[in-house]
Amino acid sequence: MTRILITSALPYINGIKHLGTLAGSMLPADVFARFQRALGRETLYLCATDEHGTPTELAAAEAGLDPATFCAQQHDVQYDLGRKFGLSWDHFGRSSSPQNHRLTQRFARELWEAGFIEERVTQQVYSNADKRFLPDRYVIGTCPHCGYEAARGDQCENCTRVLDPADLIKPRSAVSGSDDIEIRPSKHLFLRQSLFADKLRLWIDGKKGDWPLLVTSIALKWLDEGLQDRGITRDLEWGVPVNAHEWGPNPHGGLPDIEGLAGKVFYVWFDAPIEYIGATWEWADAKAAEEGRAPPADAVWERWWRGPEAADVTYVEFMGKDNVPFHTVGFPCTLIGVNEKLEAEGGWRPASNSPWKLVDRLKGFNWLDYYGGKFSTSQKRGVFMDHALELLPADYWRWWVTANTPETSDATFTWEQFQAQVNADLADVLGNFVNRILKFTETRFEGVVPSGGAPGELETKLEADVAAKLVELTELMEAMEFRKSAQALRQLWVLGNQYLTEAAPWTAIKTDPARAAVAVRYGLNLVALFAKVSEPFIPFSAETIATAVGEGFPGRWPQPQGALSILPEGRAVKAPEVLFRKVEDAQVAEWRARFGGPEEA
Ligand code: 2FM
Ligand code: ZN
Repeated sequence: MTRILITSALPYINGIKHLGTLAGSMLPADVFARFQRALGRETLYLCATDEHGTPTELAAAEAGLDPATFCAQQHDVQYDLGRKFGLSWDHFGRSSSPQNHRLTQRFARELWEAGFIEERVTQQVYSNADKRFLPDRYVIGTCPHCGYEAARGDQCENCTRVLDPADLIKPRSAVSGSDDIEIRPSKHLFLRQSLFADKLRLWIDGKKGDWPLLVTSIALKWLDEGLQDRGITRDLEWGVPVNAHEWGPNPHGGLPDIEGLAGKVFYVWFDAPIEYIGATWEWADAKAAEEGRAPPADAVWERWWRGPEAADVTYVEFMGKDNVPFHTVGFPCTLIGVNEKLEAEGGWRPASNSPWKLVDRLKGFNWLDYYGGKFSTSQKRGVFMDHALELLPADYWRWWVTANTPETSDATFTWEQFQAQVNADLADVLGNFVNRILKFTETRFEGVVPSGGAPGELETKLEADVAAKLVELTELMEAMEFRKSAQALRQLWVLGNQYLTEAAPWTAIKTDPARAAVAVRYGLNLVALFAKVSEPFIPFSAETIATAVGEGFPGRWPQPQGALSILPEGRAVKAPEVLFRKVEDAQVAEWRARFGGPEEA
């Protein structure tokens, strides 16, 4: 039996996420996790907040908090919003967790011991006014190529040229605006990624045809440009300390104190991917704590990641295209390096000395934008998770976002299209169907699944059509084709509507009650089927629908045979309150004014 390990890109701790983040990793991961669980597979779906780095330090300072307090608060906010959106994480961890500290230091030690890490002295920008080193993008100045006055030290936004802070004319700090800055030498650690180029290429070549083209092409582009060694430490305070003793006892060991690295931390992109493993460890610890047990042995969470125990695990990652290089090149280099070291220590042995798993399936996404432009936190442009839930229930957003997943190209949110689609799909097709048949059952069949009557041609055709569509939907879901899956699901709902229109039990009841009973029975079974297959997409409504026909929730994913023989005859059913209210024109006008519309794009 296959086990499924699912991770979605870790949201940065600062700021509430917008619909684009939901579309480009969190929601598809959740849809897939729910589908896998419904198939009965042992599934572990993990996410966490990505908490380290300069933006966090600055955001905390702006909020007047120390980074640890700021992160703890923001983690809770994001956790709460995720849950309200129905994200069914088995654990939502934190990259600042003790588990991630231990793992990050342990991996660094192993890479160091194998000679894969090198010390180098680099030139860094230091701001005297801010009393801190500034990462490249926090240095601004005039672009030497185009004269743009607010070019960032890593890249000019105007002419897109890649820059070095030293290229800028009149450089100044983006934090304080001060031009009292200087270049200071600073020692850092570099991971010698170039050593792993061949292994990496072999691995990525093997994924061609399996991973989306978007993903393999980004990965190969990085390899073709020549794999650079990567700086894995930073001059910051908030992060995983490089010198292990600065953090606390670590049973897994860390780096020795290296001169010139005191007080420095690992780069956020070194420790964040390790948190995928860290979150697994956090999950195991949290579960034990809930059940009143002592923290479990490493083997309990390692069985998802390494050793013969992990042989049946398929590891699936979800992320936006900007993250792809970090997960096809950066993180794999960390793991390949650690694995090479372990292998050199006398071959693989179970558990204590077995290789770490690399990702099996990687689903990368394009962007979801807002009226053709970017969502913008600073300009309050677009829809963010907290506001979205103030306006409408989570399922409206889940449905629209999944049905428009930016898979093969970027996608655009507009209020007009959102309104048209949720009204048509959810209110007119699904909601209307469920309501029609359940109300009719209540008024004409005493609210129970009727017996009697024999299925006819219409039912034979319906069974065949539903079975075929269900097979298609199941295949699309396995293939992680979310946009097409939503389409197939909608087509299933439409089949139900068409059947009911043709079978017309409201007419048949007058002349042929047995015929009406058959149609109502099939209609109610369609409702039960819709609850099961809609659950990954719109779990809150699916639960209401399942409850209306007396089914448990969440149910199992149905088989094509017998897909319409779910409900026992005589089962009591009850029409739910209105499932989906239509989004009105006046609401759209108001929301467009509030959140920005095409005019600002
Ligand atoms: O791009 C982002 O939002 C990053 N915080 C994603 C990190 S994913 C992790 F694995 F590194
Ligand atoms: Zn420029």
